[in-house]
Amino acid sequence: MAPPAGRSAISASPRVHALLARLHAASEAQEKSLSQIWFYLKRLISFYLFRTPWAASADDHMRDKFVALEEDKCHFMYLLARSSGALNIVEAGTSFGVSTIYLALAVGQNVADQRAQGKTVTGRVIATEKEPTKAARAREHWAEAGDEVAGVIELREGDLLETLKMDGMPEQVDFLLLDIWTPLALPTLKIIQPRLRKGAVVLADNTKMARPLYKEYLDYIHDPANSFKTTEVPYSGGLQMSVYLPDASV
Ligand SMILES: C[S@@+](CC[C@H](N)C(=O)[O-])C[C@H]1O[C@@H](n2cnc3c(N)ncnc32)[C@H](O)[C@@H]1O
Repeated sequence: MAPPAGRSAISASPRVHALLARLHAASEAQEKSLSQIWFYLKRLISFYLFRTPWAASADDHMRDKFVALEEDKCHFMYLLARSSGALNIVEAGTSFGVSTIYLALAVGQNVADQRAQGKTVTGRVIATEKEPTKAARAREHWAEAGDEVAGVIELREGDLLETLKMDGMPEQVDFLLLDIWTPLALPTLKIIQPRLRKGAVVLADNTKMARPLYKEYLDYIHDPANSFKTTEVPYSGGLQMSVYLPDASV
């Protein structure tokens, strides 16, 4: 159900509000199921016992799961993208396209603001998904949201370690969402980092809950040589927020 006018963190049409409410409810129901909680526990146990960060069987399990970024984190992410005026956003891990909707709303609204000031700008969200069935569901959701969302998204299907290196990437990236299996977080950041503008925001999800799995990523962004300032926002599971500040004195 759409929130009362003016009470939401998000500017969007009633149709988009209703769609987001429906998708978050479906994702939350999956995440709260015993089988899903057991799945996460098994992943952590197998990491501690066998140092297996991910497995092909986990991909099979996740194929019909939303694993959407929670609603409160999505609101925070949208507001960050709006306040920083982000025009080019990369989303690592799209699934059924829920977080992408927020990013697309922010980019569309940032573009409109700048154009209203007479500036000639464009912007887009580069979404990434390797599972064809998930990519198809994401496209359906964006089509249902309408052009305020669908018109801003470029979906790169396939392994993001390849697709993010392909032609047509924006020269400058303002915002990166890492909502991806943990072994991919650092390699993805390293692909995008040369394009990050000064002040770009990088969010990584579940850094508290999955801290051991994020070790290499967290070591990297905490190392002053890599030019990030970083803090963990205490949402459920932890949300690491980093800002790229290449010229900051240590
Ligand atoms: C946590 S989910 C993303 C959820 C999404 N951000 C949302 O809030 O709705 C992570 C997604 O990354 C996808 N993925 C995993 N490995 C990938 C890869 N190498 N390239 C592209 N996508 C990948 C998975 O299929 C999964 O759908």
